[in-house]
Amino acid sequence: QEALLEARFDARIDDGAFIEAKDWMPEHYRRTLVRQISQHAHSEIVGMLPEGNWITRAPTLKRKAILLAKVQDEGGHGLYLYAAAETLGTSRDQMLEALHSGKAKYSSIFNYPTLTWADVGAIGWLVDGAAIMNQVPICRCSYAPYARAMVRICREESFHQRQGFESLLTMMQQGTESQKAMVQDAVDRWWWPSVMMFGPPDDQSPNTAQSMRWGIKRVSNDELRQKFVDAAVEQARVLGVTLPDPALKWNEARQHHDFGAIDWAEFWRVIAGDGPCNRERLAARVKAWEEGAWVREAALAHARKQEERFKE
Ligand code: 3HC
Repeated sequence: QEALLEARFDARIDDGAFIEAKDWMPEHYRRTLVRQISQHAHSEIVGMLPEGNWITRAPTLKRKAILLAKVQDEGGHGLYLYAAAETLGTSRDQMLEALHSGKAKYSSIFNYPTLTWADVGAIGWLVDGAAIMNQVPICRCSYAPYARAMVRICREESFHQRQGFESLLTMMQQGTESQKAMVQDAVDRWWWPSVMMFGPPDDQSPNTAQSMRWGIKRVSNDELRQKFVDAAVEQARVLGVTLPDPALKWNEARQHHDFGAIDWAEFWRVIAGDGPCNRERLAARVKAWEEGAWVREAALAHARKQEERFKE
């Protein structure tokens, strides 16, 4: 019976069908989506921290307003994604317990410090640029609630990337020598962690094969990484910054840029919890959760009173 249901499910996926929350799905498909969507949501919420710490120090009112809007967007993306994950039967409390206990992952990139104002532009340009590359294919994910959330999120991500690139371009074109050096320093620190964001090489990725079979992952980690590198090289040229990879060069035969070896030991170390800011990021989230307990209790008490009132 189960095998028959699974075969019918696979046939639906092969026909390009989109799966809704009420449809039958293999337990492993459900678990994969809860894992990926909840970790995606955690990434958005934790991702508010590195940039958030520059809101009070933005150099102009315009930059402050833009940064406020972007950080607020990330919070909204997190809520869309937690809601999408809840359609699979998990709860907000379960997902957040997994984050706070260190069981669940969030994007490695947010475990790096934002040392100068130029980091905020580098995050917009490189990190949101990488996030867009990774998120556009998810708009066609076979799990429809996730795909719908992604369509809305991708619209806002393009604003995130443009504002980051424009802020760096302003510094490179109108800035002082030290501001230009600040931009180059930020690019030097954010380049390789952004390249790692796409996940391990395909031949070291335990989830890719199954996720591609199920139409959850439409493009592999390495293919998206290559697309990102090819686009960034052109953008770096317009900015007038150099990317910190001496092996980066156009390969006519491949019609792509070759690039240097990635330090996968650093990647696995960071996602195992031993990156520059992992403890600080998790402590900030646990503190926010504990300090917000009274808001959740008040909202639940109010909801119970509402229910009582409607029963009378
Ligand atoms: N950071 C942390 N963990 C990562 C990672 C990264 N950059 N890349 C891979 N991993 C983890 C995977 O989660 C998996 O661990 P798990 O089984 O415990 O979850 C393990 O490394 C092996 O990687 P796989 O490639 O086999 O795993 P996936 O098939 O899940 O692919 C992924 C990883 C490409 C990140 C995929 O999960 C994905 O597309 N996720 C949704 C998109 C996402 O999370 N993007 C990054 C968010 S950044 C962002 O959106 C904020 C931006 O708006 C600023």
